[in-house]
Amino acid sequence: MRIRATSPDDYEQIDELLAAAFGGRDEVRLMNGLRQAGDVGLELVAHQQQQIVGHIAYSTVTGPERGLALAPLSVSPDRQRQGIGSELTRQSLDLARQQGWRSVFVLGDPGYYSRFGFDLEAAKAFQSPYSGEHFMALELVEGGLADQDGVLSHAPIFAQLEGGG
Ligand SMILES: CC(C)(COP(=O)(O)OP(=O)(O)OC[C@H]1O[C@@H](n2cnc3c(N)ncnc32)[C@H](O)[C@@H]1OP(=O)(O)O)[C@@H](O)C(=O)NCCC(=O)NCCS
Repeated sequence: MRIRATSPDDYEQIDELLAAAFGGRDEVRLMNGLRQAGDVGLELVAHQQQQIVGHIAYSTVTGPERGLALAPLSVSPDRQRQGIGSELTRQSLDLARQQGWRSVFVLGDPGYYSRFGFDLEAAKAFQSPYSGEHFMALELVEGGLADQDGVLSHAPIFAQLEGGG
């Protein structure tokens, strides 16, 4: 399994992966909207023998300086529970840090994301439409979430999709 940056040639296979992993096309619309708006901060795929088996994307947020939001993360249904999702998450967080990003937010299962250092407490200082018991944050660098005014805005496509169904 190898992990690399995406190119537009991958988008069709990524769409198929997202639809299969999430059982619908909401995440396909999300990725298309993020790409069109230029709101993707980082996007990687995992591939095995020319086939894309995993995908992770981060969108930019405003509020925290150089902040990202992780979504979506997916692994092909027939390749889940083999460590691909974890490897994609770890490598992408390392790369994000190297690229100068300072923090990451995620809405997800704390049982899964806490293993990468995501923390419910760290997100509590921020007002977001997603605030609550599944909303977590991670500092990529020390002080990455310090000295913020506490208001977090996500890429507009998130609200558009929720509003539009
Ligand atoms: C969630 C997902 C990306 C995990 O990828 P993966 O390659 O299967 O995960 P890994 O093999 O790296 O990790 C497996 C571990 O995650 C746990 N896990 C897998 N999916 C989980 C989930 N939805 N919630 C909580 N834990 C989960 C497993 O219990 C396992 O834990 P263990 O190692 O302690 O037994 C993958 O299952 C997936 O694509 N799911 C459908 C889409 C989705 O729900 N994405 C998350 C959106 S926030």
